[in-house]
Amino acid sequence: MDKTMIISPSILSCDHANIESEAHKIQSSDADWVHIDVMDGMFVPNMTFGLPIVKAFKKHTSKMLDVHLMIATPDQYAEHYIKSGAGMLTFHQEACTHIHRLIGHIKELGALCGIALNPATSLSTLEEIICDVDMVLLMTVNPGFGGQKFIQNSYSKISRCKEMILRRGSKALIEVDGGVDDTNAYALGEAGVDVLVSGSYLFGAEDFNLNVRKIKWPKKVSEV
Ligand code: DX5
Ligand code: ZN
Repeated sequence: MDKTMIISPSILSCDHANIESEAHKIQSSDADWVHIDVMDGMFVPNMTFGLPIVKAFKKHTSKMLDVHLMIATPDQYAEHYIKSGAGMLTFHQEACTHIHRLIGHIKELGALCGIALNPATSLSTLEEIICDVDMVLLMTVNPGFGGQKFIQNSYSKISRCKEMILRRGSKALIEVDGGVDDTNAYALGEAGVDVLVSGSYLFGAEDFNLNVRKIKWPKKVSEV
């Protein structure tokens, strides 16, 4: 596989006491985007950060901010996150009643739009909006925490999502989030994934950029 993955390091696992240097670490690496997990303690059983952290990364990096809203009322906050610097704004299908309306709202505000599905959520709703979104985020762990184990039966869902995208002529990217490392990056690319989110594997590494490279060009690096 010669594919180059889009790599989106999840700052959930970065050193929050040194945001500026962590932003520079990403900026000077081969990573493509910055993944920012916003959790509200309601949609998921954890709380993280909000608008000030998005603004801080916007100030210290030119990489696209890939904001993953794990909040109960994404329609209420979309505009604030886009105005704070989100280039891609992803909300959860499970948290939104008027999905078509929110997609239109995000696009009108000039951002790319992603829709996220928890591991147990069926792909079926996507049929109606797959040509309207820029990305589908398939959770490969239950959302809320970094460092969890990748759910192995995600591969079938990824393949079925890819099949739907091709069948409907959609340009949506597939992003996966949770438990991504150099043991599964290659297989994920083969299954149809375009964007890898990775937190603990990248920020826990001695050499951040070596690990970025290992999952960005999985075959080439693992063969060395
Ligand atoms: C989990 C978050 C992820 C998390 C991934 O709810 O959405 O972005 O940071 O962390 P790892 O890569 O450690 O599983
Ligand atoms: Zn995430």
